[in-house]
Amino acid sequence: VRRPRGLAVSSASDAGAERVDRFAHAFVSCGADLAPVLQAVEDDPGCGIAHAYAAMLHMFAETAAAPALARPHAHAALRLTERATENERMTAAAVAAWVEGDAPRVRALHDELAARFPEDLVMLKLGQVHRLNEGDYAGMLRLAEAAAAPNGDVAHFHALRAFPLEQLHLLEEAEAAAGRALELDPDEPWAHHAVAHLMDTRGRAAEGAAFLEDAAPSWERCNAFVRHHNWWHLALHRLDLDDVAGALALYDREVRGRAPDYGQEQAGAAALLVRIELQGGDPGARWEELAASVAARGPEHVLAFLDLHYLVALSRAGRPEAAALADGIARRARDEGGVWADAALPTALGVLARDRGDAAAAADLMERAMPRLAGIGGSHAQRDLFEQLFLDVLIRAGRHAEAQQRLELRRRAKPGARHTARLLAGVYEGLGLPGRAEAMRREGAGAPR
Ligand SMILES: [Fe+2]
Repeated sequence: VRRPRGLAVSSASDAGAERVDRFAHAFVSCGADLAPVLQAVEDDPGCGIAHAYAAMLHMFAETAAAPALARPHAHAALRLTERATENERMTAAAVAAWVEGDAPRVRALHDELAARFPEDLVMLKLGQVHRLNEGDYAGMLRLAEAAAAPNGDVAHFHALRAFPLEQLHLLEEAEAAAGRALELDPDEPWAHHAVAHLMDTRGRAAEGAAFLEDAAPSWERCNAFVRHHNWWHLALHRLDLDDVAGALALYDREVRGRAPDYGQEQAGAAALLVRIELQGGDPGARWEELAASVAARGPEHVLAFLDLHYLVALSRAGRPEAAALADGIARRARDEGGVWADAALPTALGVLARDRGDAAAAADLMERAMPRLAGIGGSHAQRDLFEQLFLDVLIRAGRHAEAQQRLELRRRAKPGARHTARLLAGVYEGLGLPGRAEAMRREGAGAPR
């Protein structure tokens, strides 16, 4: 896929157009070759679309400094309309709205872009990223369906459709879409990702792990996010197979350290290390290493999803920056309300309460957050971190009846996950059902598979 699949790039120089094109191709195919778009801006400073993509590249760092770096390019893209196409003008407007944090305008422009320029998979994918950050899977699917007509033979498109279908629990359709993507391109990394989610949801960890291990060599050409995140999914499968050592090895080799300052890597690493701990693994000095680089960010508040993961890392390492980050989240909650107040703040305070050993307070706080947690964005699999932390404090607080309800639903969804059975053993003990506790102990025992 090249950007000008039916869309011209209005650059004055061939080299500039080629670099714009490379960015578009890399972005849509989860590739790493994104930075040349910064050179495209140098080659042809009058090219609006190059500026718009350069602004996107800065924003994808998801740092507090990103809007200031992106803004000059976004403004240039808005200004350089003379030789721009209508698609390029709308792209500039959508990216500028992102830089300025105007979420309703971002949503409206991406809906319009998908309807008017369905062949523009760059903007389809970016629009989906925005919707994912709001936990809006129906919005993600709507964008994909609007773009269906011209993309029947494009592997990337089917992968972009498969993931929201999976998150909407439309699993058979998601399987068909991921299968179509892989038929067109067996190395489509976002389709591998959709399969990882499908296997996770269906509780088929062994099959998922084998599939991802087979696919993994093809992720070397991928950008830091997709490479990290697909390996992260493989580590989750290993944990469901009770292979804590295997998950730790993946943490050390792939999940942590390849892009140590990148927020999404830090978040994924924190999410994996908590799960490893909850399943009895020894993190050693890993929290200290991770928290040191998280602390270097300072409090950012770019996305509630990222903040909560940063907070987990800081708090697990016992760093004072955890309290400062929670204070910042409290300020956002007070000033903006919404998901910051309903989900992020009580979760943050719950994480801190858990780490100071107050399970009862942590359970009360996290219970308040749970119904609205989808609003922090990310996938079900990612947010399951907070469900697992909630279960942990429910059990520690002696709220066995509530833990039992949630745990048996987990066990039904993933009958092979021995960790769940072991948690249930303690819960049934607490509920005065020793026979059932013994059965769960037996189910939870056995060598790692
Ligand atoms: Fe995922």
